[in-house]
Amino acid sequence: MSGGVGVRYPSGVTGSASSSASSAAPAAPGFYAARLARPGAVLAPMAGYSDAPMRQLASEQGALWTVSEMISARGLVLGGDSERLNLGRPYAGERDRAVQLFGAEPELLSAAVARAEAWFAPAAIDLNMGCPVPKIRGKGGACLLQTPEVAYALVGAMRAATALDVSAKIRLGWDTDRSVEVAQGLEAAGASLITVHGRTSRQRYTGEADWDAIARVAASVGVPVVGSGDILSAETARQRQRESGVATVMIGRGSVGNPWIFRALAGGQGGEDRPSPQVRARTALRHAELQTRFYDDDSGRLTLRPLRKVLPRYLPDYPELHADLTQVVTVTDVEQVLAPLLGTNPAQTGATASAAAEYAVSYP
Ligand SMILES: Cc1cc2nc3c(=O)[nH]c(=O)nc-3n(C[C@H](O)[C@H](O)[C@H](O)COP(=O)(O)O)c2cc1C
Repeated sequence: MSGGVGVRYPSGVTGSASSSASSAAPAAPGFYAARLARPGAVLAPMAGYSDAPMRQLASEQGALWTVSEMISARGLVLGGDSERLNLGRPYAGERDRAVQLFGAEPELLSAAVARAEAWFAPAAIDLNMGCPVPKIRGKGGACLLQTPEVAYALVGAMRAATALDVSAKIRLGWDTDRSVEVAQGLEAAGASLITVHGRTSRQRYTGEADWDAIARVAASVGVPVVGSGDILSAETARQRQRESGVATVMIGRGSVGNPWIFRALAGGQGGEDRPSPQVRARTALRHAELQTRFYDDDSGRLTLRPLRKVLPRYLPDYPELHADLTQVVTVTDVEQVLAPLLGTNPAQTGATASAAAEYAVSYP
């Protein structure tokens, strides 16, 4: 497998108080600043979803950049089992992908940055400050919102360990909104970009993301702010970006089974997110093929299991296929279930096209 990657730029050019660059020559733009020069949206880090195959499909559709599933700094430095490697491993030729690290100890984060850079060839490194899951929380993730000075030290240590951009992804706070204070501290510590998921940790995924709070953060720091939360359509993405003043938006759940949402936004305009059922079925099949290839499991017995929750999302307007899609074991199974849409039975392909208009995302 080749770990081809994007260009490495020096970091710290976006007006942050942190820049360690002292050269008189104008610095090349950092990765994030360079990518933000064009229109588009970002694929969110999602444990169990934003693996290499999903990132590949999003990048092909014009995502500005993608973010890996979070990787434990401790596991990366002290462990090294194949699952952790798969979390960070790029697909052949992958570019424009930030690796997200999780942890709370500066020395471990610093060592993890070096290891991630050597092994996974990221374009940037992101610090997770939003994970609310108690099992994983430890003192990292959203816990850092209670002790932000620890997060500032982490960002400083990470900056010292790499020339790549270092960013952080926060929630609004632990149980109350202190996002402006935290974002300003992160900027001073050297973060090149801050992503804000507009909920507190206590809220988990309940209620609605608070985009007014995200807008306040965007107005209070000099580095680019990326807004995250509840974007399910290109239209909503454009509206949120316009109204909140963020540099761009990040899309998570709304891109599961819908990489075309990135195409609509990369084009700068246009409204139609979803192509025909045939194209969606072909892409679902391709997702299964990429999955099997990336995890190098010809039997598909292990690797298609995680995709069972994803495949129906490509075809919300074909509920009659969902039960079978959640039983697939091999790529051939996927092909068989999707046969009516793949062109082998044209009579059926337009049958429920009108149902597409009733498409609605519901997520657990
Ligand atoms: C299944 C799942 C896994 C997630 N994993 C991560 C993660 O590893 N790191 C992280 O920073 N955020 C993670 N998130 C949060 C998302 O990146 C995003 O901020 C949140 O889902 C709100 O955006 P959305 O409404 O577009 O999904 C996860 C969210 C979901 C639903």
